[in-house]
Amino acid sequence: MPAKTRRKVEFGDFQTPDALARRVCALLRRLGVSPECIVEPTCGEGSFLRASVAAFPQCPLRLGFEINPNYAQAARSVEQAEVHCEDFFRKDWLGLLNGLRAPILVVGNPPWVTNSAVGALGGANLPAKSNIHRLSGLDAITGKSNFDISEWMLLHLLECLSGRKAVLAMLCKTVVARKALRHAWSWNSQIAMSAVYSIDATKHFGASVDACLLVCILEPGAASQECAVYSDLDASSHDSTFAFRNGRLVADMDCFEAYGRLSGASPLKWRSGVKHDCSRVMELRSRGYQDFENGLGEVVRLESTYLYPMLKSSELMKPHPTPSRYMLVTQRAVGEETSPIEHDAPRTWDYLQSHADHLDGRAGAIYRNQPRFSVFGVGAYSFAPWKVATSGFYKRLDFRCVGPVEDKPVVLDDTCYFLPCRTEHDAGLLAELLNSEAAGSFFRSFIFWDAKRPITAQLLACLDLGILAEEAGAQLPAWSDAGGQQLPLKLD
Ligand SMILES: C[S@@+](CC[C@H](N)C(=O)[O-])C[C@H]1O[C@@H](n2cnc3c(N)ncnc32)[C@H](O)[C@@H]1O
Repeated sequence: MPAKTRRKVEFGDFQTPDALARRVCALLRRLGVSPECIVEPTCGEGSFLRASVAAFPQCPLRLGFEINPNYAQAARSVEQAEVHCEDFFRKDWLGLLNGLRAPILVVGNPPWVTNSAVGALGGANLPAKSNIHRLSGLDAITGKSNFDISEWMLLHLLECLSGRKAVLAMLCKTVVARKALRHAWSWNSQIAMSAVYSIDATKHFGASVDACLLVCILEPGAASQECAVYSDLDASSHDSTFAFRNGRLVADMDCFEAYGRLSGASPLKWRSGVKHDCSRVMELRSRGYQDFENGLGEVVRLESTYLYPMLKSSELMKPHPTPSRYMLVTQRAVGEETSPIEHDAPRTWDYLQSHADHLDGRAGAIYRNQPRFSVFGVGAYSFAPWKVATSGFYKRLDFRCVGPVEDKPVVLDDTCYFLPCRTEHDAGLLAELLNSEAAGSFFRSFIFWDAKRPITAQLLACLDLGILAEEAGAQLPAWSDAGGQQLPLKLD
């Protein structure tokens, strides 16, 4: 990557067009914002400082900060603005903001880049690790490997502004706005009102990502946990409201109010499909009697002992899910010894041995210190004869019954979630409950459809199927990993 492009990526360098900055400031004015001072924490060439002069000509103090000296120099051309060349991550924001007269307006467009993208470039434009851990409310994201730099900046600014009369107005990815609000709400950052206004990031920044202007109005003692969603900077009324309820983000308050009663721990546990990270070896197509073709184009003869008909998300979500492949499932429980395969199915063992380079080379800490050729997400539930399943890859609420094929249970790949069932009747009943209007509305109350993967195990698990069944006058079918499967299984 050319040095210039690298730098642009590392510093999330997408300068805001003047016209967009003007529209943002005009909106803030319409909202009644009337600041005593304006702060642009990553001001670039100064489009927000410039736009603020037109929108808030009376404001006595305008401060800009920017790491790039050329941009800082350009921003100094804005009349009435004081611009400093400084690194956001080294700045004492609390000290600065505490010394400013309220109401304070913090406005701008922080860098659009993730910490892992910065790391991959060998860059250093990141908060110090100790600072990440010190920040309250960030625990949840610091545990994960990836977070947006702008999310860290937004949260840090919200924390520093908490208890002051202030407005934070920042352009960012929509998902960043939601995550930042979720964290800020979880530690009560004294926000009186929040709103997101969609913007067309492709048009303004050439970036194909859902983006918005996040506006938070802070007041001492305020404790709002709701955010209005506007389709556009000029929209006069909002389309929906998302909020923080019972420790979770609620995407649609109307649905939640109508169906939130179904919230709770489900008596049945959602499972994900089998994970093996080596489809070229572990997934095979039948090529006639005992012959199978793997993803490397090799035709091999294998016993059927460890082969199960399988469905991937794309097959599961077709109108009539039909397995076109088999999966080699080497274990019945996580951590189970695989050496018995040598005796039970010698040809399968030879096949695994001769493809050990692919299997031993699988990345991921989970495969370390495990029996050779291990798989994951496997247990008695994987071999349940019937399943009610959906895909985590599709933006669709649709639950499918999956029954045995060729007298064997169908296994699902790790992009699918399912409830294991003993009988077709049980599966049919659960599918009917899950596809009901009540369950759909309940799930919709939590789903942000613009998220990369809106359907998650966590989402499915928060529907109490017991209450749903009771309201429908049905008896919830039981599943026990220990019971009735006639399978010599280790249990997890
Ligand atoms: C998305 S651009 C927006 C610039 C400006 N806010 C605007 O709206 O036009 C992000 C800006 O953040 C600056 N930046 C990136 N990392 C920074 C840091 N650690 N400290 C200060 N500024 C930084 C970049 O140089 C870039 O100008």
